[in-house]
Amino acid sequence: MDVTVAKSAGFCFGVKRAVDLVYEEASKNQKVYTLGPIIHNEQVVEDLKKKGVCVAETVEEIEPGQDITVIIRSHGVTKKVYCDLEKKGVRIVDATCPFVKKIHMIVQEKQKQGEQIVVIGNASHPEVEGICGWCDNQCTVIETEQEAEKFVPEKEKRICIVAQTTFNYKKFEDIVDILSKKSYDIFVMNTICNATEVRQTEAGTIARQSDAMIVIGGKHSSNTQKLYEICRNACANTYFIQTLDDLDLKLFKSFRSVGITAGASTPNNIIKEVQSYVRHE
Ligand code: F3S
Repeated sequence: MDVTVAKSAGFCFGVKRAVDLVYEEASKNQKVYTLGPIIHNEQVVEDLKKKGVCVAETVEEIEPGQDITVIIRSHGVTKKVYCDLEKKGVRIVDATCPFVKKIHMIVQEKQKQGEQIVVIGNASHPEVEGICGWCDNQCTVIETEQEAEKFVPEKEKRICIVAQTTFNYKKFEDIVDILSKKSYDIFVMNTICNATEVRQTEAGTIARQSDAMIVIGGKHSSNTQKLYEICRNACANTYFIQTLDDLDLKLFKSFRSVGITAGASTPNNIIKEVQSYVRHE
């Protein structure tokens, strides 16, 4: 059987880097914390727990001391969180995705230059909370066109617009259009990351070329659901599985080519497991 695994299946670059860093730190250090779960995947968090990695929801939960390692996840955190961790004297390992870090630097610099910062995204998402904390929360978060309509620019200030990395591009454009009508002095930085789009496009391409398609991911993961829909539209024999146990291999006996993709929080070992199982059938 011909098996094709999407190169973009599973973790994006930023999440992979963060997860790898946690495993690396866990193998070297005694007391390792992640600030919030490193990824929305219970198996990975459980596995890390067995290796001694604790999840702290707040800085207050972490004890002080140089022998404590705290890992900041790919979403990033506010500037204040770094300061609070430094005060505790802990060792900080920063796994903030470089694409998110870049946004921190932009808003910090532009705010210092006196510009009015607008973040297009979801205000309660940890990534957006982190971004706001790099311009002293002196920014406006806009998520909908209605909110954009209500936005009032400050007089004689240039507006600097950035976006949450996972924001929908079409919605971003619509909001920017509305804001552009409110001021002629606007600096727009499209900071949307294309990892999701690349994963979706590749999944569709492979599904079109395959007799059957396997999509691996959490039942409640919306990005996996989306991948499934894309593949299903391109290939009628598309199967959504969480782990290898959900796979009915009898179904695959008659297919000559099978494609595999996976949602953003699916670890590589699950993808590999499915791949080798299908290949040896
Ligand atoms: Fe992932 Fe970083 Fe993009 S965490 S989705 S590569 S911004």
